[in-house]
Amino acid sequence: MIRRNRILRKSASVRSLVNETTLQPTDFILPLFIMDGQNKKEEISSMPDFFRYSLDLAIEELKTCYTLGLRCTLLFVKVPDELKDNGGKEALNENGLMQQSIRAIKKALPGMVVMTDVALDPYSSFGHDGIVEENEIINDKTVEVLAKISVSHAKAGADFVAPSDMMDGRILAIRQALEKEGLHNTGIMSYAAKYASCFYGPFRDALDSAPGFGDKKTYQMNPANRLEAIKEAEMDVEEGADIIMVKPAHAYLDIIREVKNSVHIPVSAYHVSGEYSMIKAAAKAGYLNEEQAMVEVLTAIKRAGADLIATYFTKRILELINKSK
Ligand code: PBG
Repeated sequence: MIRRNRILRKSASVRSLVNETTLQPTDFILPLFIMDGQNKKEEISSMPDFFRYSLDLAIEELKTCYTLGLRCTLLFVKVPDELKDNGGKEALNENGLMQQSIRAIKKALPGMVVMTDVALDPYSSFGHDGIVEENEIINDKTVEVLAKISVSHAKAGADFVAPSDMMDGRILAIRQALEKEGLHNTGIMSYAAKYASCFYGPFRDALDSAPGFGDKKTYQMNPANRLEAIKEAEMDVEEGADIIMVKPAHAYLDIIREVKNSVHIPVSAYHVSGEYSMIKAAAKAGYLNEEQAMVEVLTAIKRAGADLIATYFTKRILELINKSK
């Protein structure tokens, strides 16, 4: 034997020298669920240790995470049923919860990069990501609304809008709408390869946004497909996306790698609600060590090619990174 691979694993110090993937605070995006009210914090029952906050407490949480090194948040809002309709009118309200949140967060923490979810589902009486006519999700009319929502978020101060709807042509429409309004510095993080996944279940509980009829398979991708993800990513780059996202992450590591190899812009991955809750549940049952599972999965997502990772473990991993410094 002249090649002994175990030499590079013989001690913690040697292993640290040849370690290929290191997690750092700026790798992470904290998804935040914001609700109406004051001084409110509610645990999401299907996402243990993850909370919905009123805006005041959301800002406190962001300040804590900022001191741990966090520089990016992705905002979602919970919309009361009485404000929901088919066209997502409330999404365009200049003083809506999303717009207020963007302004307040940028004021409190100017260094925090604010990304906003752009989609109709939290605002839709049908719980779908598009306008519904005769049980169909209508593409082009939806894209028009998404472009308006994006302009509204950008005017409130969002650094990036993040369309998560999977309609065709929306990246180009959004870029053009932003340009037309002189919003040249607002970026687009496109959920380019978003699969029709069962792992979004807990998120839909959190925002009360489950589809009222049918499923999302006419717009979100078939989990069996790989080439289609590359096509989606490449098209979104051509249309003007600044960052591409693959979602979910844990079950789609191959897709993250292929997309990373195909495009020349940063790639993000969304470690989604069900992927988080799965680890929490297994740890609670005593089947897994939660911290080890978290670190292993997040490292795997980065190793697969993710430049940025949105995860509900963000605060926990930031605490761990800070502790180990
Ligand atoms: C909706 C949206 C979803 C998620 C992010 N944006 C749910 C869906 O498409 O039904 C899922 C996030 C998660 O599960 O953590 N546009």
